[in-house]
Amino acid sequence: CEKQDARVPKQRLLVVANRLPVSAIRKDDYSWGLEISVGGLVSALLGINEFEARWIGWAGVNVPDEVGQRSLTKALAEKRCIPVFLDEEIVHQYYNGYCNNILWPLFHYLGLPQEDRLATTRSFQSQFAAYKLANKMFADVVNEHYREGDVVWCHDYHLMFLPKCLKEYNNKMKVGWFLHTPFPSSEIHRTLPSRSELLRSVLAADLVGFHTYDYARHFVSACTRILGLEGTPDGVEDQGKLTRVAAFPIGIDSERFVQALELTQVKAHIKELKERFAGRKVMLGVDRLDMIKGIPQKILAFEKFLEENPIWRDKVVLVQIAVPTRTDVPEYQKLSSQVHEIVGRINGRFGTLTAVPIHHLDRSLDFHALCALYAVTDVALVTSLRDGMNLVSYEFVACQDSKKGVLILSEFAGAAQSLGAGAILVNPWNITEVATSIGYALTMPEDEREKRHRHNFTHVTTHTSQEWAETFVSELNDTVVEAQLRIRQ
Ligand code: G6P
Repeated sequence: CEKQDARVPKQRLLVVANRLPVSAIRKDDYSWGLEISVGGLVSALLGINEFEARWIGWAGVNVPDEVGQRSLTKALAEKRCIPVFLDEEIVHQYYNGYCNNILWPLFHYLGLPQEDRLATTRSFQSQFAAYKLANKMFADVVNEHYREGDVVWCHDYHLMFLPKCLKEYNNKMKVGWFLHTPFPSSEIHRTLPSRSELLRSVLAADLVGFHTYDYARHFVSACTRILGLEGTPDGVEDQGKLTRVAAFPIGIDSERFVQALELTQVKAHIKELKERFAGRKVMLGVDRLDMIKGIPQKILAFEKFLEENPIWRDKVVLVQIAVPTRTDVPEYQKLSSQVHEIVGRINGRFGTLTAVPIHHLDRSLDFHALCALYAVTDVALVTSLRDGMNLVSYEFVACQDSKKGVLILSEFAGAAQSLGAGAILVNPWNITEVATSIGYALTMPEDEREKRHRHNFTHVTTHTSQEWAETFVSELNDTVVEAQLRIRQ
């Protein structure tokens, strides 16, 4: 039976995302160095065996010359990756501009940039044109590699225009689209000058997925209120065509974290960290340095806690890992200076000759060091102002089975819907509430910690990324079959 299964070709899955799971670096000898970036989506898809997955996306580098493009394409093919080449101007207008300066803040309830409020402004129009052009370039590459029977899974806010482009190429293509950020209330979405065009394009997909039921509901409301279409319990209907809309909460590859804690090098890291922080409770934040993560608010809450609880000043340390991101966008540059200024002030205020209350690192950690840090943490602080899901909260829980530390979690992160019963939920804008929660978490009795952790650990280890990916793709297959049956009836 096993032999027979091996002969059945697996269904091909084309994963299309703005960024490939590897980033390319050009070496001096003109060869390419490829670095795997293990994020949520990558680990989710690495774990699925049911499909033969290929990735299509931007390699994160500008490769203007054809020779370079050919050699990078060849190097990436070994990793089952197919590059989309975007020139610097498009990256500037599409990625830095429309994606990260317009859609990203809007979808996280931070509003549109003031100067772009009118559709008539040149910058808005040219950024939207670049967005559509970039999406068309992605569609060209998908179309070139598509074979009948493939499933095409488009990811995130960068590629909202892609489902429409793909269906224009081939109406029979099975197309799914998944959003990794929140989808905001329709009242927020309706401020976007290109609101209708984007919604209509997403609706060209067969299946549209979100992390939470609320995001799916907001999307359906936007389609009914802005486009005047009909919302049904299954999705959105337009002239007899149903686009299925549903929630598919992502998870992590929890086994990978649990197993890492058994490795000698991770154990050595844990020992080192325990010695380094002996006599102090460890609080931890791990975030991309992004305004949606609420890093300044978190640090200010920690300051308030130290201010009001002098007894804790030399007994607790906050380790904040702030991974630089989108550094070409001015808003991100401003945030970096702001965070550095606050950290400096607090360390000056509460530091001693031998210790500072905040260890702030402007870089990422490798996987093993990160697991060790999660494992020695007493309290994790995830205080996003808005967050699609937030997998740091999941990773922390996966590494805490011996310590049973406490998770303080923003009620505005998608993860609050799955880990809310085990975490202490907070409104990150309420600095006083977060400061009080820090005190509560640091002194929480062991039996309460155990109970809260058990709830979260069970969730994290049973709702994995593999299950998420498999559920989405099989639902997409089913949706297309059902639609065909409906047409035949
Ligand atoms: C979020 C987005 C992803 C994105 C990631 C990193 O999680 O949902 O699509 O890849 O941030 O951001 P970057 O702009 O560096 O790709």
